[in-house]
Amino acid sequence: MTDILQELEDRRAAARLGGGQKRIDAQHAKGKLTARERIEMLLDEGSFEEFDMFVAHRCTEFGMEAERPYGDGVVTGWGTVNGRMVYVFSQDFTVFGGSLSETHAQKICKIMDMAVQNGAPVIGLNDSGGARIQEGVASLAGYADVFQRNIMASGVVPQISVIMGPCAGGAVYSPAMTDFIFMVRDSSYMFVTGPDVVKTVTNEVVTAEELGGASTHTRKSSVADGAFEDDAVAMMEVRRLVDFLPLSNREKPPHRPFHDDPARVEPSLDTLIPESPNQPYDMKELIRKVADEGDFYEIQEDFARNIVTGFIRLEGSTVGVVANQPMVLAGCLDIDASRKAARFVRFCDAFEIPILTFVDVPGFLPGTGQEHGGVIKHGAKLLFAFGEATVPKVTVITRKAYGGAYDVMSSKHIRGDFNYAWPTAEIAVMGAKGATEILYRSELGDADKIAARTRDYEDRFANPFVAAERGFIDEVIQPQSTRRRVCRAFASLRNKKLANPWKKHDNLPL
Ligand code: HXC
Repeated sequence: MTDILQELEDRRAAARLGGGQKRIDAQHAKGKLTARERIEMLLDEGSFEEFDMFVAHRCTEFGMEAERPYGDGVVTGWGTVNGRMVYVFSQDFTVFGGSLSETHAQKICKIMDMAVQNGAPVIGLNDSGGARIQEGVASLAGYADVFQRNIMASGVVPQISVIMGPCAGGAVYSPAMTDFIFMVRDSSYMFVTGPDVVKTVTNEVVTAEELGGASTHTRKSSVADGAFEDDAVAMMEVRRLVDFLPLSNREKPPHRPFHDDPARVEPSLDTLIPESPNQPYDMKELIRKVADEGDFYEIQEDFARNIVTGFIRLEGSTVGVVANQPMVLAGCLDIDASRKAARFVRFCDAFEIPILTFVDVPGFLPGTGQEHGGVIKHGAKLLFAFGEATVPKVTVITRKAYGGAYDVMSSKHIRGDFNYAWPTAEIAVMGAKGATEILYRSELGDADKIAARTRDYEDRFANPFVAAERGFIDEVIQPQSTRRRVCRAFASLRNKKLANPWKKHDNLPL
């Protein structure tokens, strides 16, 4: 008996060593943690339960039968994050470069199936040289099996990908179909074709970092939702995110104890809006002052900064925030902002997370770049996302809400439940100057007349009361009481029931 127990421990020890101490040292020398160290940091201490520790590949090509390390390059299992269950897979770069074989894929598929069945998020820690070259098409089939599961799990359980090393070729498409992608700065990259192929085909010379590093994907391509300094910070931040998310679409968002007064008054908000309508202010100040304990988890912070998206808690419950940012492009909606916010709104709606929208939008960004880039179709994505969302929706217009952008930003007309405005709100078809120049074109030569017309337009329309008279704004509220009003609004909507008509699926303007 002792011998058998000892054998189990020996086998376990061998499995834990992955590709061996030399390769573990090489991984550390690159500033990276091993697959198992990452899992330890991600999960609550001692909570990890491993599956398939002794799985080995079945390949007999290229002399592979001589080297069959336990685990086959991926560590899989489940554990808890602050006591809540998650499934995890962590690719082990020390075993064949973390490359994906048929059996490696089967291990991932097994935990994905369990996650969907049991209703818990899947967190994938990616660090892989891609398809296991020795296995050829069997490896491609394995990828496709994972892809299909990503698609089926979408909207059922949250899927989070962290890119912690190479991720190239078709391998990028599994993370691409998950809800959130995070990268580690200077040690991870994602691309469909690498620098060498790029050079051959297009003659462009580019480094892996420039082509697909963390700054490229968080600032330019928007493929990634965030980037972190190193592996340890990445794991801590994923834990923070998991705390905001429901475990599946069968659950309400988590409710946590909170230590903030829901009726907290913030007098400083009464002076947040500057005297001059063209002067910016930081919308994130409002978000933080409304949130429980000022805690805001921002998504896609470095992309399309003219719109802000992320999670806060109100009275302990998760709320998704979408807010125009007057500090960037005056808060205009453009292609990038519309795409970013639409995806976020759809995530919230899929997982029953209520949505709070702060509006200060002068309109859609004009220009040939925007029109030729399809701002009509991309702007429609955001309109579509807000309009189809059935979760509780509370909107606060702080200043400008002009034109089509007023309608788009979770207005009453697309099923906003509570539509508030600050007294500083200006809700109209367009700004006063543009409006008078169109309405009184014949008087354009007379500056005094035009100035008087502009003042008159401002007096009549640059306020929230015309919309409030029609019931498009439910109430004009004091800025300082925004947290209290918004908390009460969401509390009243806890039992909201709203269903869209049956359909196979919609036809979102992609
Ligand atoms: C098998 C692989 C491998 C792979 C790396 N290794 N990639 N083994 N299949 N795809 C092995 C190496 O042989 C080496 O083994 C160990 O992993 C570490 O690799 P190194 O090259 O020493 O590491 P490094 O210098 O850090 O370079 C990492 C790398 C490079 C950039 C990922 O290994 C590389 O370019 N690999 C090939 C990438 C690739 O072309 N993959 C196929 C992409 S196509 P030893 O024994 O020396 O430790 C694809 C299609 C998917 O993935 C399609 C899905 C639809």
